[in-house]
Amino acid sequence: MIGRLNHVAIAVPDLAKAAAKYRDLLGAEVGEPQAVPGHGVTVVFVTLANTKIELLTPLGDSSPIAGFLEKNPGGGIHHMCFEVPDILSAAQTLTEAGARVLGDGRPKTGAHGLPVLFLHPKDFDGTLIELEETRPLPPSA
Ligand code: CO
Repeated sequence: MIGRLNHVAIAVPDLAKAAAKYRDLLGAEVGEPQAVPGHGVTVVFVTLANTKIELLTPLGDSSPIAGFLEKNPGGGIHHMCFEVPDILSAAQTLTEAGARVLGDGRPKTGAHGLPVLFLHPKDFDGTLIELEETRPLPPSA
């Protein structure tokens, strides 16, 4: 069902500082901050050859990652995102098998403008998993 690792998301207390570290110290390709009000976060994407890192910081008062940063004030890995070809069919298969889809169970539009949903960390060994529907990429040259 799952395909490529689309990104690993890291919650950070200081987005500019974290972005500068990836750009200047690690020499990675780092994008501009993007507000994603629907998910209560501001994100910076770090593009790597085989996946992305998503640096997240809270946006607004009811950000879903505010509590995570309270427990992990220095930041930490927040979730992993796997690509799926058909998110509704993935949600149905998982729900039938007893896994919990967070929220109202329906996909939302994620930071890349594609449908995403999140699976309960208690059903996946303590890891919050995001699924993103993507069209398969052509094989790299
Ligand atoms: Co994500």
